[in-house]
Amino acid sequence: MDLGLKGKTALVTAASRGFGKAVALQLAAEGARVAICARGENDLEEAAEDIRVSGKKFYGGAAGEVLARALDVTDDAAMAGFVADIEGRWGGIDLLLVNAGGPPAGTFSELDLNQWEAAYRLTLESAVRMCRLVMPGMMTRGWGRIVQITSVSVLQPVENLLLSSVMRPAVHALTRNLALEGGPHGVTVNSVAPGYHTTSAVERLIAKKVEQTGCTRDDVLAEWSAEIPLGRLGKPEELAALVLFLMSAGSGYITGQCIVSDGGWVKGTF
Ligand SMILES: NC(=O)c1ccc[n+]([C@@H]2O[C@H](COP(=O)([O-])OP(=O)(O)OC[C@H]3O[C@@H](n4cnc5c(N)ncnc54)[C@H](OP(=O)(O)O)[C@@H]3O)[C@@H](O)[C@H]2O)c1
Repeated sequence: MDLGLKGKTALVTAASRGFGKAVALQLAAEGARVAICARGENDLEEAAEDIRVSGKKFYGGAAGEVLARALDVTDDAAMAGFVADIEGRWGGIDLLLVNAGGPPAGTFSELDLNQWEAAYRLTLESAVRMCRLVMPGMMTRGWGRIVQITSVSVLQPVENLLLSSVMRPAVHALTRNLALEGGPHGVTVNSVAPGYHTTSAVERLIAKKVEQTGCTRDDVLAEWSAEIPLGRLGKPEELAALVLFLMSAGSGYITGQCIVSDGGWVKGTF
């Protein structure tokens, strides 16, 4: 299936590992130019090279176009400078994946106000910032796709993930509202809500649970898998395939939605 992404310009934030990298690899494989960022330079450079190779396969030898910048998505000036550089080099951004690291685990009694503020800055404020920087250009040009990575915590509180369970629904509310403003200008805005997937973020959650309970990594995986009708954790490339569909030409009538990829973990009817 041709997703219609060849020659499009994409910004994928927090993309040196996990979901962001998986999305960037698939975008390059579809012939998009891809800009990525993350804080750590080593993983970022490695990811950029992998993405170039992914694009190279598409172009039959010519390297895929990749722009990588080490920055923190909570840094206003750095994000604005990166977007300006992408636009200066490639023109406007057509595709935006709004992604960041997740807020730390913790219960209400464990979390202090500084952690609440940091979670707001990382999860909601950074999403607002990225949309502010990119969406006006999309609206002026009359076409764009924005996808925000949230979590199943949009639909159901997740044990020990209070900050995510409070901040993510607000990110989806942003999606829902921006869809109203973007629609008349050809810009769709959607959220994807992953359940447990095999990324380094989940490995950190597993390590914390092992430390707290004294059980093994296999015990944690077995406990989580038992709650998932498909009986396993998802793969980052499975979530990426969903994101690519939402960015594709064929998804043009879907906006304001939160699409869940969780192997059936959420048990609500809607
Ligand atoms: N994996 C899951 O099962 C799952 C489920 C639901 C929701 N999520 C959410 O999905 C998002 C992505 O998770 P993931 O599993 O892909 O995580 P991951 O494997 O840990 O990757 C996170 C990526 O984000 C970058 N990053 C983190 N903080 C950043 C910041 N402040 N500025 C710029 N880049 C930053 C990391 O690089 P640096 O550390 O070098 O910056 C890395 O490239 C998170 O918000 C996570 O909570 C994940």
